[in-house]
Amino acid sequence: MDRLLGRLAGGRLPTRRPPGPRNRHARAAPHKLLFRGAGPAHALHHLGLDPPARTSVAGGSAVGRPLRDRDGRARTPDDRGGAVTDTFHGTHVLVTGAAAGIGRATAIAFAKAGAKVSALDRDPVQIPAGDATPGQIHPVACDLSDLAALERIFADLIAARGAVRVLVNNAGVDRRIPLADLDAATWDEMMSLNLDHQAALARLAAPGMAAAGGGAIVNLTSTAWMKLAGTLAAYHAAKAGIVGLTRGLARDLGGQGIRVNAIAPGRVVTERVEAKLTRDWIAETHALQCIPDLIRAEDIAEAALWLASPGARMITGQTLVVDGGVV
Ligand SMILES: NC(=O)c1ccc[n+]([C@@H]2O[C@H](COP(=O)([O-])OP(=O)(O)OC[C@H]3O[C@@H](n4cnc5c(N)ncnc54)[C@H](O)[C@@H]3O)[C@@H](O)[C@H]2O)c1
Repeated sequence: MDRLLGRLAGGRLPTRRPPGPRNRHARAAPHKLLFRGAGPAHALHHLGLDPPARTSVAGGSAVGRPLRDRDGRARTPDDRGGAVTDTFHGTHVLVTGAAAGIGRATAIAFAKAGAKVSALDRDPVQIPAGDATPGQIHPVACDLSDLAALERIFADLIAARGAVRVLVNNAGVDRRIPLADLDAATWDEMMSLNLDHQAALARLAAPGMAAAGGGAIVNLTSTAWMKLAGTLAAYHAAKAGIVGLTRGLARDLGGQGIRVNAIAPGRVVTERVEAKLTRDWIAETHALQCIPDLIRAEDIAEAALWLASPGARMITGQTLVVDGGVV
C-alpha cells in the first residue's frame, strides 16, 4: 500500500513516524496524512491532476460554485423543495412523452428550473399558463416508434435550439399481454414503444452533448419487472433492458462528460391512474410502501431534475428507485 501511495504521489510521501500518539490520525485515515494541511485541489495537483473546470451545468462541473439569484442572494437546494431554481438556466432539455403524466411534470419542473424544454409526444402538449413562461416549453409532435422520422425531427430541433444537454427518455407504454398473444409483431411493437427510442435518442444526442462539454441522460424504467408482475413479460423485458442500456451507455459516454442514469418509479398517481383511484387501491398502496403516501408525477420529476443536476456529478450507471419503499 505504501509503495502504491508513493507511486501516486511521485515518490514525495512524507516520512512515516513509528506508531505513537502523534500520528494516530494517520493510522485512522492514511490519506489524510498524505495530504495533511492541504485541500483537495492541492491533493489533485500533487498527483499530477488538475481539478475539473467548473463551467458546465448538466455535466456537473458547476458543483461547489454558490448559485445566486438576480439580486445576488445565494440559493440553496431547499429554496424550491428539493431542486435548485435556475440550475438549468438556458439549458436545452429534451423530454419524451411530455403530454401527460411523469413526462409532463418533468417538462414543467425543468422549465421552472430555467431550462428551455423540447417536449416530444404524439399527443398535443398543453401546459397551463403559470407552469412555464410562454415559449419555454416547445411542443414537438412526434411518434417515437418511427425512428427514421425521429432522426429528422432531432436534426431540425438541434439546428433551431442548439445541442441537447439533458435528455429525459420518459415515454413508455405498459400493456398486459398473455404469453399466448405475444407473437413476434407484438414483441417488436413493445420494444419499439419502450426501449428502441431511448437508445436512438441517446445515440443522436451524445455527440452534441460531448461537443458542448457534457450532459446527462435519464432513462425511465420501472419497478414492475423487479416485482414479478404477471402478463407483462414484454414490458418487463423492455424495462429491464433499459437498465442494461443505462449501464452500457454510462461506460461508453462517461469519458465524454455524459452521465447516464435511470429512474425506476413504483406506483405513480398520474392523471391516467387518478381517473380510476379507489379507496382499496390507496389502502393497498399505503400498506405496500414503507411511506404510506401516494407518489405523484412531480416526485419522479424531482428525481430526474436531481440526477441531471451538478449535485449528482459523480453518479452514473445507476437506477434510482422511487417507490415509497417497496422493492
Ligand atoms: N405511472 C406509473 O405508475 C409508472 C410506473 C413505473 C414506470 N413508469 C414509466 O414512466 C414513464 C411515464 O409513465 P406515465 O405513467 O407518465 O405514462 P403516461 O401514459 O401517463 O404518459 C406517457 C406519454 O408518452 C406518450 N407516448 C407514449 N408512446 C409514445 C410514442 N411512441 N411516441 C410519442 N409519444 C408517446 C403518450 O402520448 C403520453 O403522453 C413510462 O416509461 C412508464 O413506463 C410509470
